[in-house]
Amino acid sequence: APEPIRVTVVGTGYLGATHAACLAELGYDVLGLDSDPAKIADLAAGRLPFYEPGLAELVERHTASGRLRFTTDPAEAAAFGDLHFVCVGTPQRRDSMAADTSHVEAAVAALVPHLRGDALLVGKSTVPVGTAAGLQQLADELAPAGVEVGVAWNPEFLREGRAVDDTLRPDRVVVGVTDPRHEKALRELYAPVVDAGVPFLVTDLATSELVKVAANAFLATKISFANAIAELCDAAGGDVVALTDAIGHDARIGHQFLSAGLGFGGGCLPKDIRALMARAGELGVDEALTFLREVDAINMRRRSRTVALAVQECGGSVLGRRIAVLGAAFKPGTDDVRDSPALNVAAQLQLQGAHVRVHDPRANATAARMFPTLGYADTVEDAVTGADLVLHLTEWEEFRALDPALLAPARRVVVDGRNALDADRWAAAGWRVRALGRPAVGPLATVSP
Ligand code: UDX
Repeated sequence: APEPIRVTVVGTGYLGATHAACLAELGYDVLGLDSDPAKIADLAAGRLPFYEPGLAELVERHTASGRLRFTTDPAEAAAFGDLHFVCVGTPQRRDSMAADTSHVEAAVAALVPHLRGDALLVGKSTVPVGTAAGLQQLADELAPAGVEVGVAWNPEFLREGRAVDDTLRPDRVVVGVTDPRHEKALRELYAPVVDAGVPFLVTDLATSELVKVAANAFLATKISFANAIAELCDAAGGDVVALTDAIGHDARIGHQFLSAGLGFGGGCLPKDIRALMARAGELGVDEALTFLREVDAINMRRRSRTVALAVQECGGSVLGRRIAVLGAAFKPGTDDVRDSPALNVAAQLQLQGAHVRVHDPRANATAARMFPTLGYADTVEDAVTGADLVLHLTEWEEFRALDPALLAPARRVVVDGRNALDADRWAAAGWRVRALGRPAVGPLATVSP
């Protein structure tokens, strides 16, 4: 039998750890490289440093089988692989809206001088269009004499909370290449995935880089569209949930990513639309994307409008009020709190003098690291008991399953920031239910002095 393909994965954060474990699952020998020794120590011991359903099991299984190994040594990684995936982060820059590509460049600069034979670098990180071409230049400059280093792009579309499934059973595999040999290598690598009927789409470097950010910009636009209509429903007395359900039945529109509420957060959508606008500006076509400024503004307004609704339900001020916040993660199924709308709202209310107690089934610990001054509760009951107001801000299944009759707040008022609770059931248990874009349900507020 031929030797299995050997793959290195540079960057073992969210994207890299998932990609590495899934390639091991497909039968390849995989070496993960990261500059963070703590992360590498965890992973090498079969421990996942964050929560993602199903991924810990894969990491454990394949570190045990020996198919998945980890290192901090770029020379070891350079000697190991035929293919080198670049999966490092591209966060928003501190000084602008643009993406910071320094980690991607550093990864290439660390690896390439150690290569001893021809190699293919495959970028998966979300980058500004043009980055791949720049990395090819960098690789050409840094490659040892006689060594040919190619650069291809293979954007990743995984969603947190469903990362393993999205990686092993994606909607499509997209590769950007400059050389048919690179296409062949990637086709071979992804054969076990593509043979199950997944489209394998081949394009140029720039298009492949743009596919990723265009997809995320479209998804963000869909959400903000629903939220803009929610503002209209508030003004006119309509119900955005009934409305989006009705328009979603048109197959051209569809129901997905049309849920109005507190809006989008996380490590991708907010930063990706800002980076795309910044890149369009650099390319002299900022006009093409000015609508994304509105998409961002509508989205950020959800947070302030939710705060305003909480203030209103507390009779004009939250000063001294006890507020329970259900949810801290930016969405259910993850412990990721990057740019979390829930925590943003919680922090704003605390700034206005409320006593906030946050409970999240998974994300309390990560939230407490980022917002150490907020109050945290280990259970829903601890958060809610005695509260003047309950905010439901991340739609975990646990929260939907709550029996509202069994909760013991000081006042039965809930703001459903995700339009996910069964409002009639809560109203039947004596709760007043408020949400953005929907009429109030249940008894009128009785605001205590
Ligand atoms: C996203 C893309 O979906 C994924 O393809 C890409 O690779 C990375 O970015 P992710 O950030 O994991 O994935 O989260 P996603 O499921 O897209 O949700 C993003 C945010 O939008 C969450 O805060 C979610 O609560 C919010 N959202 C989603 C809505 O407010 N309404 C919706 O209808 C859908």
